[in-house]
Amino acid sequence: MNLRKANSNMLPKVMNGCLFFFQEFLKHPFQIGSVIPSSQALIRRVVETARVNEANTIVELGPGTGCTTKAILEHMKPDARLLSIEINPNFYSIISQISDERLIAHLGDARKLKAILNEHNLDAPEAVISGIPFSTMSDECGSQIIKAIHEVLVPGGRFVAYQLSKKVIDLCSPVMGQEKVQLEFFNIPPMRVCYWEKGNGNGTGHKRHYCA
Ligand SMILES: C[S@@+](CC[C@H](N)C(=O)[O-])C[C@H]1O[C@@H](n2cnc3c(N)ncnc32)[C@H](O)[C@@H]1O
Repeated sequence: MNLRKANSNMLPKVMNGCLFFFQEFLKHPFQIGSVIPSSQALIRRVVETARVNEANTIVELGPGTGCTTKAILEHMKPDARLLSIEINPNFYSIISQISDERLIAHLGDARKLKAILNEHNLDAPEAVISGIPFSTMSDECGSQIIKAIHEVLVPGGRFVAYQLSKKVIDLCSPVMGQEKVQLEFFNIPPMRVCYWEKGNGNGTGHKRHYCA
């Protein structure tokens, strides 16, 4: 296909997606926490950091309009499963239209992660990816989500959160241990990609480590 034609066909779709995202942001600014969906550069970094290609069960918290969901599906193994939990019914209805047998779209709250995994008979995940804005929710709500993630992850499992603020680090590090942080500048606004690995119960943790 002619590349210029393909791009001109895709542009209205992308613009519509951004506009819809922005309209939802205006309705629920604290819950959505970002004015436009994540950039391709950020999504690539998140997918690589979570080592999506190695996981059998992956959880995504806050898929929004699905740009991250589609990238995860693209990199997943053919027999892996992806559970995408979205609290906004309008975003959920977009996610539930993605046609891929490996995807389970769920309308609900990330705080109920354990019950939702059980409801869908899914194994403990090796990777949890979150775009939900910890900075605009109460500490109590944020801590509940972090504890739920830590509880369900397999030992050695990975938690990746892409965030503007450092609040997720303050909430998560006491539970998950030392974080690793990368900065992704090619996103509006630039984002931190924070990474934790659940310990194997032998007391080893990561050293604090920042890299650009
Ligand atoms: C910044 S948007 C990320 C959207 C998309 N993943 C992206 O990167 O463009 C955050 C998303 O988290 C969702 N969200 C916020 N709190 C949530 C919760 N407690 N449970 C599930 N989803 C939540 C919002 O509705 C929104 O879709």
